Amino acid sequence: MTRVESIRKALLDWFAGRARSFPWREHPSPYYVWVSEMMLQQTQMATVLPYFQRFVARFPDVDSLAEASVDEVLKMWEGMGYYRRAHLLHRAAQVVVEQYGGELPADEEALLALPGVGPYTAGAILSIAFGKPAPILDGNAKRVLSRLDDVTADIDRAATVRQLWARAAELVDPNRPGDFNQALMELGSLVCLPRRPRCASCPLQAHCLAYARGTQSQRPVRRSRKKTPHYDVVAGVVWHATEPERFLITQRPSDGMLAGLWEFPGGKKQDGENLEQALARELREELGIAVEVGEPLPIIKHAYSHFRITLHPFHARHVAGEPQCLQVAAWRWVSLDELHEFAFARTDQRVIAFLRAAAPRRYP
Ligand code: ADE
Ligand code: SF4
Repeated sequence: MTRVESIRKALLDWFAGRARSFPWREHPSPYYVWVSEMMLQQTQMATVLPYFQRFVARFPDVDSLAEASVDEVLKMWEGMGYYRRAHLLHRAAQVVVEQYGGELPADEEALLALPGVGPYTAGAILSIAFGKPAPILDGNAKRVLSRLDDVTADIDRAATVRQLWARAAELVDPNRPGDFNQALMELGSLVCLPRRPRCASCPLQAHCLAYARGTQSQRPVRRSRKKTPHYDVVAGVVWHATEPERFLITQRPSDGMLAGLWEFPGGKKQDGENLEQALARELREELGIAVEVGEPLPIIKHAYSHFRITLHPFHARHVAGEPQCLQVAAWRWVSLDELHEFAFARTDQRVIAFLRAAAPRRYP
């Protein structure tokens, strides 16, 4: 056996005994693989599983997904984060129906032309669903390969990433490409861990250059990243002036961050203003309303991909001005019992949980 062949065999043998069972592994149809890999790009397996099950129960095939409204798709994605994936998946389903009669094409170029499908997703569909020897490289696989070859170049540079893709393409098993790719990613998430790789139980130990040199903990090499910025964000539970159980929710614009999701209106605090002033200003700018800011609710800390926030929610009472869509896509007066019809971002779901737990459910 060549070195490449014995790496393949070691990895596949390990995976045969260790592969966790998931619906997209039991039934690796192109649609199941596509949906699951879109979900798995930013979210862990265990978190994805219930979302996947609910998603394919509601949208069992490309056609049903294409026909659904974007609000419904967002509702099914609610809480998983990185909502752009849901918009892209939905748009791509419509393209697959229009151009390919609802069947995903088994062709790299055609797949790459679909919204949201990059080399990673195309490689997953080709190898796992269609059995084609295409490589996949996610963050876990990058780490494994950078250690296997003891790569000293910066992993965030395009040239390094190209080198690792080429290596993945060389290694992928031509007979069992889907298993090989999943094994490589799974090894990264279960054994070749970012901080304390479990080299003692690793099937690739005999082939691993970083292990031989004792450099595992220094790979992959990454130039020090800038610290992610932090913002203080305010949000108002704006209670109706005369209908005491109702409050205001607003929908975010259809593009940009958290597009199309519903929330408690608000925004970033600016330098030189306090939290209450920031809330009053944001509500004036976004909706043209005046409010009286009341008691705070518990603060919520949340990390997005490129920044962190502390959300400061406040009760508030509507004082003047019919809401207008100045910087929001839509607004509604609702009661707590009506919220299940709307998709909210994770932070706002936590505000809702506080409201449900607190009595009375009205302006305090
Ligand atoms: N990470 C993302 N997709 C994966 C898969 N199909 N198997 C293992 N790890 C993954
Ligand atoms: Fe990762 Fe250690 Fe295995 Fe090398 S031997 S691939 S560093 S777990």
